[in-house]
Amino acid sequence: MYKGVNAFANPLRTGITNFFSTSIKRTVNNKLTFATGYTQLRKMSSVTGFYIPPISFFGEGALEETADFIQNKEYKKALIVTDPGIAAIGLSGRVQKMLEERGLDVAVYDQTQPNPNTGNVLDGLKVLKKQDSEIVVSIGGGSAHDNAKAIALLATNGGDIGDYEGLNRSKKAALPLFAINTTAGTASEMTRFTIISNEEKKVKMAIIDNNVTPAVAVNDPSTMFGLPPALTAATGLDALTHCIEAFVSTASNPITDACALKGIDLIQESLVNAYNDGSDKKARTDMCYGEYLAGMAFNNASLGYVHAIAHQLGGFYHLPHGVCNAVLLPHVQEFNMECPKAKKRLGEIALHVGASQAIPEETIKALHAFNRTMNIPRNLKDLGVKTEDFGILAENAMKDACHVTNPVQFTKEQVVAILKQAYEY
Ligand SMILES: NC(=O)c1ccc[n+]([C@@H]2O[C@H](COP(=O)([O-])OP(=O)(O)OC[C@H]3O[C@@H](n4cnc5c(N)ncnc54)[C@H](O)[C@@H]3O)[C@@H](O)[C@H]2O)c1
Ligand SMILES: [Fe+2]
Repeated sequence: MYKGVNAFANPLRTGITNFFSTSIKRTVNNKLTFATGYTQLRKMSSVTGFYIPPISFFGEGALEETADFIQNKEYKKALIVTDPGIAAIGLSGRVQKMLEERGLDVAVYDQTQPNPNTGNVLDGLKVLKKQDSEIVVSIGGGSAHDNAKAIALLATNGGDIGDYEGLNRSKKAALPLFAINTTAGTASEMTRFTIISNEEKKVKMAIIDNNVTPAVAVNDPSTMFGLPPALTAATGLDALTHCIEAFVSTASNPITDACALKGIDLIQESLVNAYNDGSDKKARTDMCYGEYLAGMAFNNASLGYVHAIAHQLGGFYHLPHGVCNAVLLPHVQEFNMECPKAKKRLGEIALHVGASQAIPEETIKALHAFNRTMNIPRNLKDLGVKTEDFGILAENAMKDACHVTNPVQFTKEQVVAILKQAYEY
């Protein structure tokens, strides 16, 4: 075991049915249908499952630890899935070398696009089939992991990735996935979500499936020292959004609350430091833990309307996921104050997000101020969103699986009002 690496084993990986077992599927006319238990999904049944990967490695040296782990399992053929940026800075090459030194034959798919699309999945699958890979190793942020998850799922289940949109629709385990994270972040390296864009329909499909949970999640802060400030801010604010949406979610529970609150604290204390000095080891390490805790929270309590709307902006205009979330977060939470429980909870996190008073209105102000500290675009207008698209964006957000656990079920008019407020702010 390398010094500084912590292994986190999950003894509770069970097949217990929880609220996520409800079946959601987008039909041919692009509508989501809730085949069973919509109420169960919103309220949490009497049985609660808790899902995280069986093993996670943290700390400097976690890459070597992962390579040793793969060697000890005696795998011989691995497919690396990454993106052109990660390949250009040599991060995927570093991992490829480690695996080859341990006797593995390595194939590489390095053309994953930000907001990965169905074409990326098919192209990666071709490389996998040619090599007959036994495992998949993803290196990057959410885009590389999501593409790798989809490839690993199709490798064993067949069909198109769109067939698995919704909840737990696959029958077989995916190929083992070793997810090496380089942003902090989406937490995709540890979640059971994969988000794939359907470019034709201009929507992002949410596949929520226990079978896409990585076998091993890896967070080595040394891979993040070179993450530029703007990407550090965007990905870190995505993680903060995960914490807050999970904390006010209708499916939150004491475990997800604990994860969300600790995640908020770590992100609040370390994100600006990581933004100002990318090589700040403590800040990068704390962000790894913060984003992972955020993942533990939303992987089990799900999300809300920030993500439901952000997915549409990503699908429509190819905008970065974290930036969309950061811009929308204060506005959606302001509208969520219509729900007394959510309002109370937004007050509870005020001091955690840097507000001076423990009241919900101050939380909203602090979130706006936090965005400004890191030069996040002020509004949707600055992101190039078009007012004439508000109607279709709202309709599609209301079909996104993430909206189901939002504390308020908004009407289309309310979603348009959120978009308008976030546009004009
Ligand atoms: N599956 C999930 O649980 C989940 C959750 C939230 C978001 N997502 C999805 O994740 C995607 C966004 O992922 P992301 O925000 O991590 O960005 P990303 O993976 O799209 O990466 C953005 C850019 O950052 C670069 N980059 C990444 N790490 C770097 C590093 N260490 N140094 C230098 N450059 C680096 C990449 O090359 C890329 O150009 C979206 O498609 C979103 O929908 C998935
Ligand atoms: Fe996210």
